[in-house]
Amino acid sequence: MNQVLESLKSKDMIQNEMMYREIVEYSVETIFIHVDHEILYINQAGSDFLKGSKKDIIGADPLCIIQDVFKPMIVERFRKAMLASGPIEVIEQTIARLDGSYVDVEFYCHPVQFGGRKAIQTGLRDITERKNTERQLNEREKLASIGQMAVGIAHEVKNPLTSVKGFLQLVKETNTHPYLQAMESELEKAIDTLQNLLQVSKPNLYEEPMIEIDLCKELSSLIFLFQDKLYNTEIEMDLRNSDQMIVGKKNLFLKAFFNLIKNALEAMPEKGKIRIEHYFQNDCIHVKISDNGIGIPKDKIDCLGTPFYSSKGEGTGLGLTQVFTTVREYGGTVQVQSELGIGTTFLVQLPLHPTIG
Ligand SMILES: Nc1ncnc2c1ncn2[C@@H]1O[C@H](COP(=O)(O)OP(=O)(O)OP(=O)(O)O)[C@@H](O)[C@H]1O
Ligand SMILES: [Mg+2]
Repeated sequence: MNQVLESLKSKDMIQNEMMYREIVEYSVETIFIHVDHEILYINQAGSDFLKGSKKDIIGADPLCIIQDVFKPMIVERFRKAMLASGPIEVIEQTIARLDGSYVDVEFYCHPVQFGGRKAIQTGLRDITERKNTERQLNEREKLASIGQMAVGIAHEVKNPLTSVKGFLQLVKETNTHPYLQAMESELEKAIDTLQNLLQVSKPNLYEEPMIEIDLCKELSSLIFLFQDKLYNTEIEMDLRNSDQMIVGKKNLFLKAFFNLIKNALEAMPEKGKIRIEHYFQNDCIHVKISDNGIGIPKDKIDCLGTPFYSSKGEGTGLGLTQVFTTVREYGGTVQVQSELGIGTTFLVQLPLHPTIG
């Protein structure tokens, strides 16, 4: 009777182990089992991820994927996992693959029974995308806070400059020094730049009545402002649903669409085509401005709208800041699609009734 029970038990164990192996083998994450500095098993996803064949990896030291500085720490983790009764805490680690490339992973270990002996199961989860997003967010936050700081400084510097301008006008009343005129016009330029920065970053502070805006009419008129630059650019207009109108600050929106069209033109230094569309869909006015210009690199898309981000020698990098802040403060959205060498499309969606005034 005991023998029958024993054989049933060991059959169960074998079945369990086979099931366990299948789960591990077909897991999409890297899993390998090792003991005493030797890898005993690695699943298919693991050998693909580590860029080596199973033959190369089995028998190797698991520390071969660890950079020298981290080896003592990982040895300590393996020791801890061997003594533990369950999983030990997960860490993030950069590992070196067999083809020499580095990759960020979540690294987790726990003890297992393998081939009748105690071993360690190590799992690696690829976190490259998460890390990249984190890096981009940090970069964006950094740029945004620099922008905020710049706005603060602009505010503080504009007031004393305005007083200087007042005093200069008083001096001009009693003096005729030839430099006074130049001083005044340079000062005005500086005040204008600061005013521009403040307006761009906080469009809601800009006093203007909310009125119905016929965007179709305004977009058609805007094009005339670029007459002198249009000799080698074709403009295609597809303006539908002109009866649908938003209610907002007209000059802010004109400036925003002016900035988008100006960018499209500047993206096509040679010949090119700009397409401007206006249509109504899902309770929103859509304005699409597409060009077949130089395009925007993927890693720069997130920087768009950040004050002072510009790839142009002469650019201030405030054009898109004005576009994004105006549209978002109104309750709309801006989407960008771009491909290097093919072109760029900015899609502005504006709800008929603004959520924020
Ligand atoms: N249609 C576009 N095609 C290609 N790149 C674009 C386009 N629109 C914007 N960009 C990129 O975004 C950057 C920021 O644009 P933004 O309008 O904010 O500043 P700018 O055009 O450089 O300067 P300005 O303050 O004179 O507008 C540009 O320098 C350019 O690299
Ligand atoms: Mg611009």
